[in-house]
Amino acid sequence: MQTAVLPENQLGPAIDWLRRGEVVAFPTETVYGLGADGLDAVACAKIFEAKRRPSDNPLILHVLGLDDLERLILGPVPALVRALTEAFWPGPLTLVLPSTPEVPAIVRAGLNTVAIRAPAHPVAKALIEALNRPIAAPSANLSGRPSPTTAQAVLDDLNGRIAYIVDGGQTPVGVESTVVDCTTQPMTLLRPGGLSLEMIAKVVGEVQLSHPEGPDRSPGMKYRHYAPEAPVIWIQSTDRDFVKQTLDALKREYGTVALASPEPVSWQVNGGIESLGPDGTSAAHRLFCALRRLDRGGPGAIAVVWGSTEGIGRAVANRVEKAAVGRVLAP
Ligand code: TXA
Ligand code: MG
Repeated sequence: MQTAVLPENQLGPAIDWLRRGEVVAFPTETVYGLGADGLDAVACAKIFEAKRRPSDNPLILHVLGLDDLERLILGPVPALVRALTEAFWPGPLTLVLPSTPEVPAIVRAGLNTVAIRAPAHPVAKALIEALNRPIAAPSANLSGRPSPTTAQAVLDDLNGRIAYIVDGGQTPVGVESTVVDCTTQPMTLLRPGGLSLEMIAKVVGEVQLSHPEGPDRSPGMKYRHYAPEAPVIWIQSTDRDFVKQTLDALKREYGTVALASPEPVSWQVNGGIESLGPDGTSAAHRLFCALRRLDRGGPGAIAVVWGSTEGIGRAVANRVEKAAVGRVLAP
């Protein structure tokens, strides 16, 4: 299959293709998604095939807003869910709620809940509006790889496997949406993401953290994720001496070591260097792109220096942890 990259002001072929029950990659404000008609089980099966996604990992339905959500869930919209949508939609927040049977089982991976979000990106909105149905979309990477934040990253993973990529430039947020299970009391954070836990808690009060050893409520979180070819080592500290010593040890073990680090980047390595910027927001925006870029140099290992779990920093730490084969903590 030939993969064509469409400019974002030329959505016609992408819309026709979606209407025909096929898949299209498109930008959202978080990462690129690989979308299909979310109420068409056959179309959604093509998503799993194109990105080689395990079938027990459910998809997010992308909608325009609360009216669409109402049609996809069982029962009335809980007051706190309504409050969340009023505060943060459209935006990087995914809500897990009891599903109507109308949502194909393949989208839910057989669960009785469905994950729903209203993306803020104009291309995503235009596609949902034109299809006039929810669009099911996971991130548009090959399963296990870093999520794509550019059309080029989608092409690197899926060239020849899908027909269309809509190019909307680099995605602003850079990490995926925050996933909240709204069926528990209090609500449960299933995946930290582009909207901080602190912001959500301001609207709903307490939010519990999903327990890593607990029952697997967000099936996607158990797989190795976000990983480039080179092994990633997470240095969970920004202490100067400690980081320097660790990098020296990594060079002895792995040979060439590439580095992604917050600013100011003041460490010596013998592979490439990518700055993650001054804070969580910039690190989220740059992380996946940095991992893919560093990987291209074929280093023995990629070291990621990251310490913060505040605000969006929590999502950055989570993605680095999942990508990493090992973590080094300051004593
Ligand atoms: O920002 C995003 O969320 C991007 C863009 C494209 O919207 N999408 C995305 O999708 O990250 P994906 O498939 O890579 O991640 C979806 C996450 C997975 O961890 C999955 O297990 C979880 O949402 N999920 C989906 N449906 C669920 C459900 N019914 N219950 C619990 N977790 C669910
Ligand atoms: Mg993904």
